[in-house]
Amino acid sequence: MDGTAQLKTLTVLGVTGSIGGQALDVAARLGIPVTGIAANRGSDALLAAAERTPGARVVAVAPTGEEATKLRSILGDAVSFGHEALLELAATPDSIVINGIVGAAGLGPTVAALNAGNRVGLANKESLIAGGPVVVAAATAGKGEIVPVDSEHSALWQCLVGETADSVRRLILTASGGPFRGKTSQDLEHVTVEQALAHPTWSMGPRITIDSATLMNKAFEVIEAHYLFAIPYDQIDVVVHPQSIVHSIVEFTDGTLKAELGDPDMRVPIQYAITYPERAPANLEPFDLTKAPLVFEAADRTTFPCLDLGYEAGRRGGSAPAVLNAADEIEVAAFLEGKIPFVAIPRVVESALEAVPLVQLSTVDEALAVDAEARRTAAHHVELNMRAG
Ligand SMILES: NC(=O)c1ccc[n+]([C@@H]2O[C@H](COP(=O)([O-])OP(=O)(O)OC[C@H]3O[C@@H](n4cnc5c(N)ncnc54)[C@H](OP(=O)(O)O)[C@@H]3O)[C@@H](O)[C@H]2O)c1
Repeated sequence: MDGTAQLKTLTVLGVTGSIGGQALDVAARLGIPVTGIAANRGSDALLAAAERTPGARVVAVAPTGEEATKLRSILGDAVSFGHEALLELAATPDSIVINGIVGAAGLGPTVAALNAGNRVGLANKESLIAGGPVVVAAATAGKGEIVPVDSEHSALWQCLVGETADSVRRLILTASGGPFRGKTSQDLEHVTVEQALAHPTWSMGPRITIDSATLMNKAFEVIEAHYLFAIPYDQIDVVVHPQSIVHSIVEFTDGTLKAELGDPDMRVPIQYAITYPERAPANLEPFDLTKAPLVFEAADRTTFPCLDLGYEAGRRGGSAPAVLNAADEIEVAAFLEGKIPFVAIPRVVESALEAVPLVQLSTVDEALAVDAEARRTAAHHVELNMRAG
């Protein structure tokens, strides 16, 4: 993050999602041309995004045959299909790539974009969880740069501008606490999918919303901060802040605390990732400081064991965070499908962490092999859990 990237064209990966749609809003507001968009399926949402971005190259990674035919008939040669096409799109020269893909599928494009010397506005935190060492190596070796889009990391990044690494005492990530803040483990035994999806402050895609309810999302963010800012886990803390107004805090060695505040609106960090080191007007309502008291409290690590699982996986290093991510992705999907209860998510993730051997990661393929093995293991544990009733 050396601030050398120039304002160029934009490529939006995961364009049909929550981050992707907001990235298009920001591009329209800033008047930046979007020259590439990608999603997984060939949905009508992808076609709608293509309409919003005339002239853009369009990639659908895994459309059905019918979707592919429809896309080809409407978009002609502008559309390509498959994972290789996604990697090529991410490597479009002189592009700022907003990676809003969900899951470990985002890792390959992040590395491809970095290898091509692009700036990556990283919303896809799984790139760093599933392949942190690989992403850091790509960013160091190439001329590309990673800038955070996740609001907490954008906040930390903004607080760190102009500071030296040795002046930082700790990074303090804020967590909303999710919809189940204040509940006990017993209360969580019978929560429904609808309750878990009702996030109190942020409107996001389903996986990250469930991860916010278990605090796994915060666990991922601890690991993300470790890789983004090259800081040891002992210097990363989490505090619950239900209003989501203070997006995160840096404490310096002289006792000074710097925080970044604002209404919860992902378009703000998306825009800063694009315009950095400059700022551009956003025409938002002025923030009302008198609106609500700001509350901070300790995270309940007993009711929400995923947070400590994240620290543990991060400290083990190597492939452990990749296992954490893959197992969680399977468990969240199983919970959303009604196959396992909410409280089984940390249990099954922990079993997968114990079962999959720790290896070091130096390539995307190695990271994806661990990801696949962890998925198989987690799926097996889901089966066992269902059979046990
Ligand atoms: N939403 C937020 O406010 C927020 C905040 C901070 C960080 N993040 C992070 O940003 C990422 C995206 O979150 P989201 O909430 O925007 O998710 P989302 O709404 O579920 O959207 C996910 C996007 O990824 C695409 N996708 C899924 N699998 C893919 C694959 N194999 N290849 C290519 N594209 C694929 C989807 O395409 P289809 O529609 O075709 O399936 C969709 O466009 C996540 O890593 C999340 O943790 C999100």
